[in-house]
Amino acid sequence: MSRQFFVGGNWKMNGSTAANEALIETLNGAEVPEGVDVVVAPPAIYLESVRKALSPRIAVSAQNCYHAQSGAYTGELAPAMLADLGITWTLQGHSERREYFHESSEFVAKKTKFAIEHGVKVIACIGEKLAEREDGTTFDVCAAQLAPIAEALSAEQWADVVIAYEPVWAIGTGKVATPDQAQEVHAYIRAWLAENVSAEVAEATRIIYGGSVNGKNCNELAGQPDIDGFLVGGASLKPEFIDIISARA
Ligand code: G3H
Repeated sequence: MSRQFFVGGNWKMNGSTAANEALIETLNGAEVPEGVDVVVAPPAIYLESVRKALSPRIAVSAQNCYHAQSGAYTGELAPAMLADLGITWTLQGHSERREYFHESSEFVAKKTKFAIEHGVKVIACIGEKLAEREDGTTFDVCAAQLAPIAEALSAEQWADVVIAYEPVWAIGTGKVATPDQAQEVHAYIRAWLAENVSAEVAEATRIIYGGSVNGKNCNELAGQPDIDGFLVGGASLKPEFIDIISARA
């Protein structure tokens, strides 16, 4: 089975009305190759304006949302609100949220399930820290982050999940994982899904790589058999994002 290439651009806490307009102009002027899913994740305050101005060929994602329909949850967003605005994806479990906002893997799994149940697909982020890679526990860390998600989801719900493998030591550091390093972990994640969910889910689920991806290193990474796309941070704010979209074209 061939998995559709997927490129996400996580704008993180960057942007302004003027900067977004310039970026959207670049994105709208670019040719998105057929058979490639492209999604951008602006800060929450800009979701609606970006959705309105951006070509419908590019999907829009939130960077987070909560596991309740509505109510007294100050500062949170409900998936139904995202769906209401045509925001069809959300990130969950980005390492910055795990680190700075103390999100546990169980909380990430709960939010992942709730988002899917309310019509929003999920880019679920996992990945090890530098000390964990150096300790040789990369696979264990990834498995521990995946396990609550696998417990929470039905087999059908995996159709609405993309897994982003983002080694924390490669995020925003310019230190990209080598294609072999990334491929090794992606293959492990796929094997883990086969063993703990099903062979079908393992075969169909997109596993994308994130961590210092740019216009220069994307082609070699995209050539790896288990790398189905990218989650791009810094470079998604620049015109080279267009080159990354076409990494496998
Ligand atoms: O969500 C994106 C990742 O954190 C990667 O960020 O491309 O700036 O390293 P980066």
